[in-house]
Amino acid sequence: MSSVTRLGILTGGGDAPGLNAVIRAVVRSATQAGIECTGLEDSFDGLIDPVRSRRLAIKDVTGIHRLGGTILGTTNRGNPFAYPLTSADGSADYSVRCVENFHTLGLQALIVIGGDGTLAIAYDFQKLGIPIVGVPKTIDNDIPSTTMTFGFDSAVGFATDAVDRLHSTAHAHHRIMVVEVMGRYTGWIALYAGLAGGADAVLIPEIRFDLEKVAASVRRRDQHGARSSIVVVAEGAAPVGGTRSVVAAGDAGHVERLGGVGAHVAEQLETLTGKEARYVVLGHLQRGGSPSAYDRVLATRFGCHAVDVVQAGRSGVMVALQSPDIVTVPLADVVGRTRFVPLDGDLVRTARDLGMCLGD
Ligand code: F6P
Repeated sequence: MSSVTRLGILTGGGDAPGLNAVIRAVVRSATQAGIECTGLEDSFDGLIDPVRSRRLAIKDVTGIHRLGGTILGTTNRGNPFAYPLTSADGSADYSVRCVENFHTLGLQALIVIGGDGTLAIAYDFQKLGIPIVGVPKTIDNDIPSTTMTFGFDSAVGFATDAVDRLHSTAHAHHRIMVVEVMGRYTGWIALYAGLAGGADAVLIPEIRFDLEKVAASVRRRDQHGARSSIVVVAEGAAPVGGTRSVVAAGDAGHVERLGGVGAHVAEQLETLTGKEARYVVLGHLQRGGSPSAYDRVLATRFGCHAVDVVQAGRSGVMVALQSPDIVTVPLADVVGRTRFVPLDGDLVRTARDLGMCLGD
């Protein structure tokens, strides 16, 4: 067992429903084990400037598992190894300062709740001697070694509800309705929401799409008496021979901002089929709001397990769901990798068995 008496906790990257449930679980279980918790604000910014940290007691986290967002704040522009300066002319390395502040705050372990970018930064701090336990977060569900990330189920629930609602209006107007969902590199949200909502076509980043094929499937449906079609497209999906749609280029510490594929798909399908098409972008609605019951439970299990790992004196690992168990996996096996939808897996096979068009 370890002699940890105080741990730090932070949330980094894009928010996801369930962040607060992890924080609550960590604080409750750590406090019961006699470990004090310090919350760091706005991701690693709280280590760059320790004024932006605060003690978290059980009373501070009461009931927060029901809330979206994160009580600690977050940012995906705060890599201390290449911190963007406000002048935007360059970046600075604040990592040594962070390690010093970690010790000044009396911390002996750091629980980092984040996605690919945040966990990669955390791993770099592990190499500098800060004991890290990672918790996988992202609505995109694209972190390796875990069956699911928290936040995904809530996002899929929202997207499914949107698809459900679009069926009746699409049918009434004999239209094609295109729904753009999140999914930067992977099509997990698109496929799950498409399957749950009964979409006719689903376009994902893992499969380059050919809109002639989608248009042909719309025509076939019309020949069989259907009056409308629903197309779900992941924001990161790209056409054969083309690139994904970007609304703003990346800058220091920030990846490029995606958007526009839904509009493109709707416009092209209208031309190719002669049917009216409209599009809806679900955007950050998928990240906001209260977490689903599933995400609350998964996040809570992750949080409690992370404290168990700290108590056991272990670090350099991420907690993960390998159903039905919560396990730990080395951070080294996770960072720099993406969990894509397997094209020969059951999810894609099921979609094809249903006659869903995947754009290929
Ligand atoms: O990584 C999760 C995600 O939801 C992506 O699907 C999306 O591209 C990104 O976050 C957008 O994040 P933000 O608008 O916060 O930069």
